[in-house]
Order: sequence, then C-alpha cells, then structure tokens
Amino acid sequence: MRQPEKHILVIFGASGDLTYRKLIPSVFDLYTQKLLPDNFGVLGLGRTDLSDDQFRDKMKEGIEKFSGTIKTKKGMEEEFLTKLFYYAFNTKEEKEYPDFKNHLESLNKKLKTGNNYIFYLATPPSMYPLVPKFLANNQLNDESNGFKRLIVEKPFGYDLESARSLNRDLQNQFREDQIYRIDHYLGKETVQNLLVTRFSNGIFEPLWNRNFIDHVEITSAEDIGVGDRGGYYEDSGALRDMVQNHLMLLASLVAMEPPALIKDESIRNEIVKVMQSLRPIPEEKVPEFVIRGQYIGSEIRGKKQKGYREEKGVNPKSRTETFVAMKFFIDNWRWAGVPFYIRTGKSLPTRVTEIVIHFRPTPHHLFHGDKDIMKQKNQLVIRIQPDEGILLKFGMKVPGAGFNVQDVNMDFHYSELNDTYLPSAYERLLLDCMLGDATLYSRADAVEAAWEFVDPILKAWKNQPCIKVHGYPAGTWGPDVSDQLIEGEQTWRYPCKNLVGDGEYCEL
Ligand code: BG6
Repeated sequence: MRQPEKHILVIFGASGDLTYRKLIPSVFDLYTQKLLPDNFGVLGLGRTDLSDDQFRDKMKEGIEKFSGTIKTKKGMEEEFLTKLFYYAFNTKEEKEYPDFKNHLESLNKKLKTGNNYIFYLATPPSMYPLVPKFLANNQLNDESNGFKRLIVEKPFGYDLESARSLNRDLQNQFREDQIYRIDHYLGKETVQNLLVTRFSNGIFEPLWNRNFIDHVEITSAEDIGVGDRGGYYEDSGALRDMVQNHLMLLASLVAMEPPALIKDESIRNEIVKVMQSLRPIPEEKVPEFVIRGQYIGSEIRGKKQKGYREEKGVNPKSRTETFVAMKFFIDNWRWAGVPFYIRTGKSLPTRVTEIVIHFRPTPHHLFHGDKDIMKQKNQLVIRIQPDEGILLKFGMKVPGAGFNVQDVNMDFHYSELNDTYLPSAYERLLLDCMLGDATLYSRADAVEAAWEFVDPILKAWKNQPCIKVHGYPAGTWGPDVSDQLIEGEQTWRYPCKNLVGDGEYCEL
C-alpha cells in the first residue's frame, strides 16, 4: 500500500463530536496500520480554549472508545498522541487567520511536512462558505509550495439553490479537484463491494437490467430516535438527512453503467449519469410516490419509547419527517420501467441497511410448493450493515416424492473472513484524501443532480400542508400506507438484524 505524502491534517471544529468519535479514532487506526507518513501531524482548531495536552487527553478517550484497532494495538496511543496539536481561535473572524497561518507554518517547519495541508471542515454548515474564503484570502489554497485539500462534511446545502450557492462559494476559493465532499456511505467496505460484486463477476451483470429485474428495494433503518440531535434534525428531516445523499448514492451504485476505469472521474461520471436520468417527481404527484412519517410514543415490552415531538430540541407540533418511503424510476435503456423503492427511518424495529434486487419470476410455474413461495422471486440481498454479507434466495426441490419447491438461501458473511479487519468508513476516506484520490468523494454535479430530484418533494411538502405526515409507533416499520407504494401483490422486505438464517429466525 502506497503511503501518503507528508502533511498536516487541520481540523476545524476539533472540540466537536465528529472529531472525538470518528476522525481521531480513524486517524489512529491508520497510524497503527502504518498507513500514515512519518512526517505527519493533526492540528485541531476550535474556540474552546484547550492546551495540546488537554486536547490529547480528550482524544485519548475517543480513541479508547471508538478505535477499531485499539484492542490489538494497546500502548500505541501514547506515541500517536504526540502527533496531535491544538490551537484555539475564533474561526468566524477573518482577522484571526494571519496568526493561525503563522502558527500552522511554524508547526509545518517543526514537523517537516512540506507545506502540505488537508483542511477538514467538521463545523456547523454555516461555516462552510466562510472558512474556505478566509483560507484563500490568506493563500492557504495555493498549491505552488505543497498540496492544499479541503474536506467538507454533509449537508451540502439545504435545497437545490443553497447547494448550488455552496458549490459556487467553494469553487471560488478552491479548485474542484481540491474539494473532497464526504459521504461516509461510500467509505463503507460493503458499499464498495457493490461495485466488485457487479463488475468482477460474470454471472450478475448480464442479468442486471430491465429484462431480468422486477424491482430494486433499498432500506436503511435505524432503531434509535434522534436522541440529542433534535435541534439539527428538526430543520433537516429524513429526506435531507438520508435520502438526498446516502440512499441516492446507493441507488446510483446499483444502477450505474460499468465505469471505464476504477478511477475518480470514470466512476463519478457514471454516478452522475444515473442521477441525471432520474425521472422527476412533479410537485403535484408527490403524494403518489413519496410517503412521509413521524414516530410517535409507544411502549415496547413494557418500556416507554419517546415520540419524535417529545425529543429535546423538537417543536411539539413538528411536521418534520423521521421516515420516508418512495418509489422512483430511472429513465435509461437499462432501467426503463423498473421501479426503485427506497425507505429510511428512525425508531424502526432494528438497525439494518440493505439493497435487495428482486428478479423477475419464471414465465411459467412448472412445480408446486407453498403458494407464497411460488409467488416469490429470486432475490439478491446485499447487506450493507450489520451482519455484512450477500445472500441469494432461490427455489430448491424439497427432498422426497414429487417436485415440491422450497425457498433456500445461499450466502456469504464477512464475519467468515476470520482475520480480516474491516476498516471504518472514515478511515478509508481520510486515507484516500491523504493519497489525493477523490474516487469515493462526491462531485459537485452529482450533489446538485440529487438535490434537483429531491427539491420538488421538499417544495410539495412545504407548499401543500395537506400532504399527510403519517404517525407510526416508535419501534414499528413506519406507516402502513408505505406498502401501497409497491406495485402488485408484494410488500417491503421486513429484514432482521441477522442475515444468517434469513427467513428462519429474526433478531431485532
Ligand atoms: C448520518 C445521518 O449521515 O448517517 C444520521 O446524519 C444517520 O442521522 C447516519 O444516523 C447513519 O449512518 P450509519 O453509518 O450509521 O448508517
């Protein structure tokens, strides 16, 4: 594995949760696997006044709780912590940037990091247009003496207009190839495996089209509510929080054409082509294609579950959706007429993300069996999380007299790869940015195309308050009406935590 060039990772918003839970533990995991350059440092920035030592102590705690390698690499954290530094300043104030720049340059001299910087914006989105501008005004976008990269966290905008404006703001200060928009779903091993499953196996791709696929179903369910993120979520809702980014991306990876190369522009070109082929859902048709819901209080096994409106930071009359189910089409040669169904929600029965390819049934039923089984189609379940793996459902003869058919599973689980370490999404993505590889990051045009698709839905919900927000008891699979979206006699799959023994028993 190629090691990245020497550099400093500069984190804006370093006293926040993301740095503590994800970024520093992931950088530590890269360190323990010897994937960081020798000349390397992290400079955390924030308004909270912390010394280097205080910052290190806090990060040590984060590493102990969230690192994937700490169990086997105990002891390495002390050495790693010496690479962490902290500088307190008000990142909203342009006049404070020259001092910050001096500080950064002296650290660069000390660590001999060749003026290579990655700036990570782990800040509230209101800072996204400001920080790049202040950096650029202080020539911290100038690559004449070393690379300068900018990582931006979602949300990339609030709607189409604000996404365009954010892209313009970023691109006025940094070139597009210096900007890394992170969607942590693309960092997931199992999401990347989708490309490998499709394009490294001769058996799937010939069937991967409208002639053989009946419909595609994508579910991303969470069993927890919004917790203490109510304030953020209230203005976001499930459509912005999960659909516009993560789920549209998963759908694009399922639907895209084979890229010419496994390289950033090739893959990103194919992703954007899918987004541009999405059949728009006009505002007046939104209720026909999109269902929104909100969890209400319930009791599960004697334990009271909060409703969304009772969560901290949430308006008691809130109409923010915590559940979305939708149907859409991709108007191109491969997918014409094939419905895509996607569904996501908080406070559902279990945490599971999976893609299910439902193949068309045989044209003629020769054999007998359980009526429901006969109606079923071959399904390929690509489990993103948990119990990561792949499962193919198909009919098999029940041993004995006659020709009775039974549904069986053929499956693979990552847990079977005993000694294999599954890197976290942030670990993979941070490493890629350090290597200058933007393949797994979102490009401006794809982000805008996804907003273009989602925008009429947001507008319809805003302009037509008569469109229902269906209540669903916390801990259930969302509003019943979402079943009506699915064509024919079918329903959604109701997956369990376990993929092992799917259909035989259910862990929630
Ligand atoms: C984030 C959303 O982007 O993704 C969260 O803001 C959501 O609301 C999370 O919980 C889900 O990510 P994962 O990796 O747990 O599926």
